[in-house]
Amino acid sequence: AKIHHHDFVIQATPVKRLCRTHNTITVNGMYPGPTLEVNNGDTLVVKVTNKARYNVTIHWHGIRQIRTAWADGPEFVTQCPIRPGMSYTYRFTIQGQEGTLWWHAHSSWLRATVYGALIIHPTEGSSYPFPMPKRETPILLGEWWDANPIDVVRQATRTGAAPNISDAYTINGQPGDLYNCSSQDTTIVPIDSGETHLLRVINAALNQPLFLKVANHRFTVVGADASYLKPFTTSVIVLGPGQTTDVLITGDQPPSRYYMAGTAYASAPNAPFDNTTTTAILEYKSAPCPAKNGLSIKPVMPSLPAFNDTATVTAFTKKFRSPRKVEVPTEIDESLFFTVGLGLNNCPKNFNSNQCQGPNGTRFTASMNNVSFVLPSNFSLLQAHHQGIPGVFTTDFPANPPLKFDYTGNVSRSLWQPVPGTKVYKLKYGSRVQIVLQDTSIFTPENHPIHIHGYDFYIVAEGFGNFNPKTDTSKFNLVDPPLRNTVGVPVGGWAVIRFVADNPGVWLMHCHLDVHITWGLATAFLVENGVGELEALEAPPLDLPPC
Ligand code: C2O
Repeated sequence: AKIHHHDFVIQATPVKRLCRTHNTITVNGMYPGPTLEVNNGDTLVVKVTNKARYNVTIHWHGIRQIRTAWADGPEFVTQCPIRPGMSYTYRFTIQGQEGTLWWHAHSSWLRATVYGALIIHPTEGSSYPFPMPKRETPILLGEWWDANPIDVVRQATRTGAAPNISDAYTINGQPGDLYNCSSQDTTIVPIDSGETHLLRVINAALNQPLFLKVANHRFTVVGADASYLKPFTTSVIVLGPGQTTDVLITGDQPPSRYYMAGTAYASAPNAPFDNTTTTAILEYKSAPCPAKNGLSIKPVMPSLPAFNDTATVTAFTKKFRSPRKVEVPTEIDESLFFTVGLGLNNCPKNFNSNQCQGPNGTRFTASMNNVSFVLPSNFSLLQAHHQGIPGVFTTDFPANPPLKFDYTGNVSRSLWQPVPGTKVYKLKYGSRVQIVLQDTSIFTPENHPIHIHGYDFYIVAEGFGNFNPKTDTSKFNLVDPPLRNTVGVPVGGWAVIRFVADNPGVWLMHCHLDVHITWGLATAFLVENGVGELEALEAPPLDLPPC
């Protein structure tokens, strides 16, 4: 196994998109940031130096970080931020993961532009469980704002309203030639007739689940979230923010140019969204010559699903299976039921109407089990836990929602106003955990991409309406469910996940729509140390940023 050293310098860099130049926060002047490539078993050592004017941290999305929670990255959860002028070195080893993950800033909305691919090749000497692709290409889906994303979220927090939506979707940082002023800003993906390529697709968008399709071609899905899948073919894939999907694509069509197009899956009918389309171009090297300069042959456009095409999403998700029988916990020690959804807080007495611009003079909020998560501001949760600092968090996050109710639109009015708190849920080392995640449909039903740090989990079942323990348990797949780090809880429905709490530390669990984490759709698990030294959190690195 190798040790890979990298330097990340966080800095403002001029970036021109949609006709305007913006001073954009980047890593090493690159947008998107550098792609990191390692083999399973390797160690990454990344020194992050902050030369920007914002606090920053970097999160290695999906990396298990076994015993190295100090390197996980979410601000005020596992570390205090790297202040301007300071640096911190993240050091961690990849253990038992192969496929596509990514890294992103985990402070405010900086991840809008501070993100990149993290590619984990098979352990040295071993190979893919599918034929070796001729070429591999990361496809990073993203969102671009004309305004500074930090100002967008600050404005929303000030007014209590929903934030402005983005101005474009992007593929590898480029909006594509369907947007104004973007004819040069289109990613080209070359292919030769007969070749099979591996596309490593990542949804790095802030707030938008996205469909992706290539005209006239089909994908063979072989992995997601750095776990292999039983291969299946499909013409369209969908990813929630945070999710990755590895697909094979073969150059089996007449040599020409074909659009690869990304568009919104706007599962929340009441939420504002952008109905534009981002494009890259799959270009055959043997395409007729005029195509080479991109001027003469208009690429073939795929027909895309409608923004509310939940049937396509459900059919796609149902195909996910692990390649073989897996070890799903069958006995459960911790059976949890967490609601996920929005809320609307009444305008506090000391606020004026400018600060309460949500629906009917309210402020938007969000919660799990009616608790709206508040990050600490002067310690990290992990530090407070490790050093026994009292008063930073409480361990009374409820195992169940406070009231029983019907989540299909008949939600008790009292639950529209969640209670703020820094509450975590404590797990004994090695406990076998099941969580039912239930969309509340408060304000609007929505597909919430729920992500857990430090763990992969099996998705054993998903469905619509209210989860019913009497009838739905029989639908559990305990044989070959997919292993993921982010689950899209179906719109107005539920998902059931299982994992073993074998990684000590404090681990954030949140909706990966950044606007929802801003509003408090999060909690954290405090996983205690086990008995042996190898079951305990490592000591904090000496350069851990001071709070
Ligand atoms: Cu990509 Cu807290 O996560």
